[in-house]
Amino acid sequence: MEHIPVLLKETLDILKPQDGERVLDCTFGGGGHSRAILDSANCYVCAIDRDPDAERRALEVKQLYGKRFDFIHTNFSQISDLFREQQKFDAVLFDFGISSFQIDDAERGFSFSKDAILDMRMSKDGISAYDVINKFSEQELADIIWTYGNEPRSRQIAYKITKARSVAPIKTTLQLANIVRKTAKSPSTIKKYSKIDAATKTFQAIRIFVNDELREIKEALETLPKLLNNGAKIVTIAFHALEDRVESTFKICSFTWILV
Ligand SMILES: C[S@@+](CC[C@H](N)C(=O)[O-])C[C@H]1O[C@@H](n2cnc3c(N)ncnc32)[C@H](O)[C@@H]1O
Repeated sequence: MEHIPVLLKETLDILKPQDGERVLDCTFGGGGHSRAILDSANCYVCAIDRDPDAERRALEVKQLYGKRFDFIHTNFSQISDLFREQQKFDAVLFDFGISSFQIDDAERGFSFSKDAILDMRMSKDGISAYDVINKFSEQELADIIWTYGNEPRSRQIAYKITKARSVAPIKTTLQLANIVRKTAKSPSTIKKYSKIDAATKTFQAIRIFVNDELREIKEALETLPKLLNNGAKIVTIAFHALEDRVESTFKICSFTWILV
């Protein structure tokens, strides 16, 4: 499935890429924003993504745009180590979160609507969602689900997770989703008034923790000024208030979009 770049027009309106400019796309994903930027001016784009699967999609873009495009497989928290003094940028884009490629590939274990081993690692390394769900204490789980998911039922959910795993490990996304859904006081009420699955906040929380997403954003934004030419433009696209809160301290142009 194709990833449709969000807020594309708004992003281009602000970045306004010009011929000869250097643009840094810190979240390549499916390359939708990178391609649109490359099509809008005779500029250069360097794109980054921590997901090894993004590299294959970047190769296609490289074939189309040649020297005007490069891809680096790394975390955006590392950007200050990547470029020399004369390689500064005129525009930078961050489109935080996960791509539809990652959600749609059941084996990545991000989605509560497809059964797969709990994973959720964008970089395919480090601790996985399976480790967090099966090895962390009830208190640690409750704190993660509250802090990164803002889930009011975090304590009940953590309790139910530890109870279930004392019988057998919680291996899959659907097992976890069903435990979380059952802790809803009245699933029928929730369904009636909300289109959002009761497992959404818990899955978001575990994913943010597994990928250390907020630290990544903070470190990237702290070091970014070193990489910018005078008058450079930065756009960040945030999906939820936690991302927005980190970036708001840096006073940059940001959009938050809400899933309805
Ligand atoms: C919402 S998608 C970006 C979609 C992209 N703008 C497009 O048009 O296809 C976010 C991407 O950022 C990547 N990503 C998330 N956190 C990252 C990080 N800390 N460092 C590098 N890439 C990251 C994810 O792997 C994912 O591919």
